[in-house]
Amino acid sequence: MNVPAYVVGGYVRDIFLKRPSEDIDIVVVGSGIEMANNVAKKLDDPKLSVFKNFGTAMLRCDNMEIEFVGARKESYRSDSRKPVVENGTLEDDLNRRDFTINALAIGLNKNNFGKLIDSFNGILDIEYKVIRTPLNPDTTFSDDPLRMLRAIRFAAQLNFEIDEKSFNAICKNKERISIISKERITDELNKIIMTKKPSAGFKLLLDSGLLEIIFPQLAKLKGIETVEGKKHKDNFYHSIQVLDNISEKSDDLWLRWTALVHDIAKPQTKKFDEKTGWTFHGHEVVGSRMVPQIFREMKLPANEKMKYVQKLVALHLRPIALTEETITDSAVRRLLFEAGNDIEDLLMLSVADITSKNPEKIKAYNKNFKLVKKKIKEVEEKDKLRNWQPPVTGNDIMKTFDIKPCYEVGVIKSAIREAILDGKIGNNHEEAYKFMLEKGKELGLTVKNIS
Ligand code: CTP
Repeated sequence: MNVPAYVVGGYVRDIFLKRPSEDIDIVVVGSGIEMANNVAKKLDDPKLSVFKNFGTAMLRCDNMEIEFVGARKESYRSDSRKPVVENGTLEDDLNRRDFTINALAIGLNKNNFGKLIDSFNGILDIEYKVIRTPLNPDTTFSDDPLRMLRAIRFAAQLNFEIDEKSFNAICKNKERISIISKERITDELNKIIMTKKPSAGFKLLLDSGLLEIIFPQLAKLKGIETVEGKKHKDNFYHSIQVLDNISEKSDDLWLRWTALVHDIAKPQTKKFDEKTGWTFHGHEVVGSRMVPQIFREMKLPANEKMKYVQKLVALHLRPIALTEETITDSAVRRLLFEAGNDIEDLLMLSVADITSKNPEKIKAYNKNFKLVKKKIKEVEEKDKLRNWQPPVTGNDIMKTFDIKPCYEVGVIKSAIREAILDGKIGNNHEEAYKFMLEKGKELGLTVKNIS
């Protein structure tokens, strides 16, 4: 068989970047499916999937995924992302790729085995850390507008610069992003959030004008207002700094999302008070309520991850609001009760939220934090409030007073919870049971069964 075949794209790029990669793309000047079938015959235990409609085939072996595709020449219509595909040469195939660093190929045939094909100086761009389109950027970006986000994502992931012409084309073509599905956009956004220093990607998103289109709520945080000589901080730069801070400590996508949106409601809640200056009262509550809408728009899952983000946004001021005078057992108990197992993440977020440059302020915060952490540990050990389960249940209440589910059961249950949180009674069955009897009596209930 003498059909020309080449390793192309990300795998070749990653060899030169010394990044591990498990996906290999092979371009065949001919039929990709036929080539995959022939290769599979030579392997002991081939797992081959053929996608006839796309003219591609995937071979899995060890941890590798090898995709075979015929070289293509594509042209796009301006109103759609669906290309008109024709068979083409290797050159046609490389021309239609997104960036010079991804338009590299390595020969696999006897006559050119291991030979690098670098028609657009991709290696030089890797060396100089530049993201650049192989063709006129207007063409490359309008062929597939997602590439504008990919450019920013690669720049953020690899710590590269976007070439000026390519960046200007992103600014010019930004509106075209609206033809791309939300899922694909969010995929790229998540990849940016997961980079080592995500603020770099978000600055590019803002400066290109893409942020305004794909995440308007976040773009709104940008700006500083001054009234009577008093200004507030720029909440966009603050938020991405908090995201950077948290990213140094955690690889959890959802904690990173929380950092990004923790102040999302600041524009809506902003007020200027002559005495106190700028206030953002209630921004944590309003922000927490905005999370489901943002998740819906971004096509992110509406599951416990969303609830986690909502909860942490709602609670993000609580640890820092505990000052020396207010770090009472009862305040800490309430915080533990509400944060549950996410208390460590909440504390991490609070620390990340300190972006002040004032050393005095930082020192004061840190000192206070140590105290908060110590107190939390003490209360935890004493009261066991994390993942709290009521020591007296609704069933216990109904059985004791021989009543059906009713208003009084709820009243007694919350009275027990409040008494425990306030430290009036201990977090144990005995004290809670006694308290329940008293509360029932107050409500005019008669004890029918004693346990
Ligand atoms: N590609 C492209 N335009 C796109 C997506 C992909 O030109 N919108 C090309 C690029 O040559 C890319 C290759 O297809 O290298 C494989 O794409 P993909 O697997 O999405 O990206 P990788 O470059 O492998 O990088 P990553 O896995 O980080 O997404």
